[in-house]
Amino acid sequence: MLAAMCGIVGYVGGQPALDVVIAGLKRLEYRGYDSAGVAVQTESDGTLAVDKRAGKLANLEKSLADTPLPGGTTGIGHTRWATHGGPTDANAHPHLDDTAKVAVVHNGIIENFAALRAEIAERGHQLRSETDTEVVAHLLGEEYEGDLAEAMRKVCRRLDGAFTLVAVHADSPGVVVGARRNSPLVVGRGEGENFLASDVAAFIAHTREAVELGQDQVVELRAGSVTVTDFDGAPAEVREYHVDWDASAAEKGGYDYFMLKEIAEQPKAVADTLLGRIGTDGRLTLDEVRIEDRVLRAVDKIVIVACGTAFHAGMIAKYAIEHWTRVPCEVELASEFRYRDPILDQQTLVIAISQSGETMDTLMALRHAREQGAKVLAICNTNGSTIPRESDAVLYTHAGPEVAVASTKAFLTQLVACYLVALYLGQVRGTKWGDEINEVIRQLADAPRQVEEVLGTMEPVRELARSLADAPAVLFLGRHVGYPVALEGALKLKELAYMHAEGFAAGELKHGPIALIEQDLPVVVVVPSPRGRSVLHDKIVSNIQEIRARGARTIVIAEEGDEAVAPYADHLIRIPATPTLLQPLVSTVPLQVFACELATAKGHEVDQPRNLAKSVTVE
Ligand code: AGP
Repeated sequence: MLAAMCGIVGYVGGQPALDVVIAGLKRLEYRGYDSAGVAVQTESDGTLAVDKRAGKLANLEKSLADTPLPGGTTGIGHTRWATHGGPTDANAHPHLDDTAKVAVVHNGIIENFAALRAEIAERGHQLRSETDTEVVAHLLGEEYEGDLAEAMRKVCRRLDGAFTLVAVHADSPGVVVGARRNSPLVVGRGEGENFLASDVAAFIAHTREAVELGQDQVVELRAGSVTVTDFDGAPAEVREYHVDWDASAAEKGGYDYFMLKEIAEQPKAVADTLLGRIGTDGRLTLDEVRIEDRVLRAVDKIVIVACGTAFHAGMIAKYAIEHWTRVPCEVELASEFRYRDPILDQQTLVIAISQSGETMDTLMALRHAREQGAKVLAICNTNGSTIPRESDAVLYTHAGPEVAVASTKAFLTQLVACYLVALYLGQVRGTKWGDEINEVIRQLADAPRQVEEVLGTMEPVRELARSLADAPAVLFLGRHVGYPVALEGALKLKELAYMHAEGFAAGELKHGPIALIEQDLPVVVVVPSPRGRSVLHDKIVSNIQEIRARGARTIVIAEEGDEAVAPYADHLIRIPATPTLLQPLVSTVPLQVFACELATAKGHEVDQPRNLAKSVTVE
């Protein structure tokens, strides 16, 4: 059970803990969630009072109003953005051990929880949820001998994966303990009170003095003290800082727009989408794909249905699926799919890609496909949404909530999920050997670092974007997997800058679009690797020469070391060298930044562009 991208709050001090925790969870509301819960150490006898509810925070607040918890000044809270596994009361955090003396909340992915679960069950513990978090509650209960921080250190040393954990124990009054590996956790230092949270937005109303916890650290919070050690108990160095954001900026992590924050989150989103899916034997384990291998072996056609950016992800997926599985793969706009009387049967696998899981066009397409007997696999970013619920199987992306209307991190994680599905099909159908799959997985594992590298070189792209704020139009060209990237770059510019922008297959230029080229018209060209399909590279270099000869202002995205394009590029944007099929993971990022910056230069409201909604729930 994965619990990525959740909101966590802990408090100890003189105020009613419940008020501070609930208010803090509300400040984390933008992270999205489908269940929430709190645990408070009661003033009277120190027992833990717990309430947790599926649904929005309002459900929990209603429950607390109907049956108030006893007062207390130490407590923790959680909002769960479930990645898979139903958002139910039982799966909501906090999770307790058998004695109900330990309450723990968690954000992240504990990769070895299955083995730990088996161990816990063998020792007779009653597991009441499907979550990985509950295993930690039982382990803490076992390890606790009066020092909760020491118990936490012992447990953390046994965990693999990415996690933030915060716990309280009934026998340790006035103590909140947190642990961090790869997931954010920050301390707020107050006067006679201290806070713990996934981000500063939760406590910025009380204090701006923050302490960021580092990797593999445990923090013990008391009203008057904050003690930080590493997982072995040695005192740890921490970074103290003053938060100068206001509350709303804090929700955006200090960025002006959610879109900027989400662009910056892409390395982590890609890494999280890979986490937990490669078994110790090196085989792919897509545990949410519940279509039996024998059914997948019988598939003789794949149809991808999606809209907008998700459709562009599907176009890229087609190249990987056909190359790795040799199964014919069609990609269809969901809004067109069911009206063209498609040919579907039990041997057809339909893949529905949707960030929100609520896009009506895509939902209606998959309903039509299922009526025709096809199996449907959803690739979705929103747990418990309609599209996964109505599919035969789901592979969740772990991008975390995407708030900005213009999709960015969801797109990159959709690509990762599509690559994983294609590799899984190759593994199941025997068209890809284990070592070949491992090689692609190794290359994918390097993607977060490469995306980070691109993000660090974007200042020239922002300057260029600002200089083009008054351009009449921008064209985008690409070949092979660069063609859907060109379409995606054009879509970003349309929906953010409200400009005429169009993406073309570069090979189509001579069949009409080259008539559009005029003096100084900006044309973005996504250049394939010269090492992969070099014939494609040479052809697109010719295309760049053709448009430049007609006055175009060429903005060329090309990999490091590709010197052939340099003489024809008015602006050259470098990306890391990647395998041909994986290049969209890095070549899309400059286009996202370009569109966002150009729209900002035009004074547009980047997170909520005009006329658009985050999820198109009508046909
Ligand atoms: C992309 O930036 C847009 N927000 C839009 O095209 C979006 O990708 C499309 O509406 C599909 O949404 P979904 O992924 O939630 O189904």
